[in-house]
Amino acid sequence: MVNPPPYKIKVVEKINLRSREERLRILKEAGYNPFYIKADDVYIDLLTDSGTAAMSDSQWAGMIETNQAYAGSRSYDSLKQAVKEVFGFDLFLIAHQGRATENVLFSTTIRRGDVIPSNTHFDTTRQNILSKGGEPVDLLVEEGYDPTSQHPFKGDVDVEKLVTLINEVGGERIPLIMMTITNNAGGGQPASMQNIKEVSRVARENRIPFFFDACRFAENAYFIKKREGGYSSKTIREIVSEMFSYVDGFTFSAKKDALVNIGGILGMRDQTLYERCKNMLIQIEGFESYGGLACRDVEAVARGLYEGVEDDYVEHYCQQVQYLGEGLKAKGIPIIEPVGGHAVYIDAKRFLPHIPQEEFPAQALVVHLYLEGGIRSLEIGSVGFAKKVEGRWVYPKLEMTRLALPRRVYTKEHLDYVIDVVAKLYEKRDKIKGFKMVYEAPSLRHFTFRMEPLEPLT
Ligand SMILES: Cc1ncc(COP(=O)(O)O)c(C=O)c1O
Repeated sequence: MVNPPPYKIKVVEKINLRSREERLRILKEAGYNPFYIKADDVYIDLLTDSGTAAMSDSQWAGMIETNQAYAGSRSYDSLKQAVKEVFGFDLFLIAHQGRATENVLFSTTIRRGDVIPSNTHFDTTRQNILSKGGEPVDLLVEEGYDPTSQHPFKGDVDVEKLVTLINEVGGERIPLIMMTITNNAGGGQPASMQNIKEVSRVARENRIPFFFDACRFAENAYFIKKREGGYSSKTIREIVSEMFSYVDGFTFSAKKDALVNIGGILGMRDQTLYERCKNMLIQIEGFESYGGLACRDVEAVARGLYEGVEDDYVEHYCQQVQYLGEGLKAKGIPIIEPVGGHAVYIDAKRFLPHIPQEEFPAQALVVHLYLEGGIRSLEIGSVGFAKKVEGRWVYPKLEMTRLALPRRVYTKEHLDYVIDVVAKLYEKRDKIKGFKMVYEAPSLRHFTFRMEPLEPLT
């Protein structure tokens, strides 16, 4: 059951369903890469929940009301107050988006040969660490790799593995420990408060700073409320406060849970680190009071942070994702369970068992979802996360097609349409064939690749 949305529609945007013939042509011209399909040619856009939220009347009003200035805009004070009240942090920097906060933090903290553990690093995080000479290490609990495990917190860090890693490499080679909440590359699964506390304890005992990749902190708090003992009567804000009390800092793409189209925040408690990061920020993003954004966008982040932790909104958003997941499951579609926070992840290995990972089954599903119903989705599997080790491709354990839900954008009818299209495709899944890569960039290849189908599409 999905509660009615705690908002009503004030502005709408027309969407277009192109004909199947047009969709075939569009796919071919895009090199079968969803990033190269024009938004006007997409009917239901589930490519990402990042930067795609519908902003509120209050956010839009704030964008006009605030003043625009190189330094000292009112919007900076609004954000300062929001960061203090929502996260409990006094020190923070603004950046244009999440990966810029990663760049500033890692440029300042990582030395060549350092190791940075996490539950699972997301793609930009991983690449930002590698480009500074660091080694990203994923220490997710085993249940996180099992698409059918009903473990309530499949985003937890394996604490035993973390302790072993620290003993092996030495705390001095670990400039920080990270935790991605929720775990986007692992099915949008949450981490428990218990796990956050334990990782915090291990980090403190070894004098290693502990940082969240906090993109979807509000949904993580929602799952703690629903699934962890002792939190059911707490508000999302109270749970968020407690979560952030255990960390020394965070990187944050405001494009997710701050309900804005652009923005990022880097929070920390250490004054020396703050000064060093601030100097780096001024070099690559801009002065601290705007950090690569127009002041109006800073104001939208400030207001969005409060809206993003309202209980009725978070509940409705998570229920929408749940509704989509349950609807697919009811039609027999294999999905990653339990349903994650911001997206439903189809298990492409079980949807298309006849396509081996080197022929990109999750990507084949992305292509066919667009061809079948104009739905844009994203591959999180062998295109995005395969690694070349000693000249050979090593494929990720999870091969997924992500249906990410933009916040406050789609209605139940849109979700029903998606369920129908996926179900139709599932009935003729045997006809879906694999793909081959014809162009790939040396890093982050999933953004710019071009492919060709192994057999012509019709
Ligand atoms: C877990 C996670 N970390 C970092 C990022 C990077 O954020 P941005 O796209 O704002 O640079 C993303 C983006 O999707 C993400 O999902």
